[in-house]
Amino acid sequence: MEERTWKDSITELQRMVLPEDTNIFGNLYGGRLVEWIDNVASIVAIKHARKKSVTGSIDSLFFLSPVKLGDIVELRGRINFVTRSTMEIEVNVFSEEGITGLRKFTTTAFLTYVAIDDQGKASPVPGLKLETDEDKERFSEGEKRYQVRKLNLQNVKANIPEKV
Ligand SMILES: CC(C)(COP(=O)(O)OP(=O)(O)OC[C@H]1O[C@@H](n2cnc3c(N)ncnc32)[C@H](O)[C@@H]1OP(=O)(O)O)[C@@H](O)C(=O)NCCC(=O)NCCS
Repeated sequence: MEERTWKDSITELQRMVLPEDTNIFGNLYGGRLVEWIDNVASIVAIKHARKKSVTGSIDSLFFLSPVKLGDIVELRGRINFVTRSTMEIEVNVFSEEGITGLRKFTTTAFLTYVAIDDQGKASPVPGLKLETDEDKERFSEGEKRYQVRKLNLQNVKANIPEKV
């Protein structure tokens, strides 16, 4: 399968926070932001794999600054790392006040997408072409997170609640 670079799938999305996106304090719901993050990551995944791909996991998320009604939210997604059938996608989120232009960093999310076949089973994805030292560094950091996730996944599978 032909390798692709991260540039082939980089994706940026901008959204304005509307009243239906906020809680009673006028702040963006965390869940809404996760939906947007997942949406951006799903575009990156399908552009890299050119196959059906599903969200396997989302690493811990820390929201560092509140996003307010009327703010512009910018989400930038890129692929860092791949295995046979999984892709690690990083999404960085910033907010910007429309009037003042004041920008704040909100969060970084790492998502794992798994490409699937018509039976819903994991299916191979193209390799990631590493062109620069930064690409290699990101890949290697992604591999470290992947190893941690593998252990976490085993742990989750070993502790499925009895009453499903
Ligand atoms: C993710 C899913 C496709 C894995 O299917 P599978 O064929 O059983 O996958 P396997 O156990 O053979 O694992 C294939 C690879 O995916 C990885 N993987 C499997 N489940 C994963 C998960 N939940 N999160 C992250 N990685 C996962 C495995 O580590 C393995 O990686 P490797 O190729 O590097 O070894 C399946 O569990 C699924 O459909 N889950 C629901 C996804 C979904 O609907 N998401 C939306 C929210 S509900």
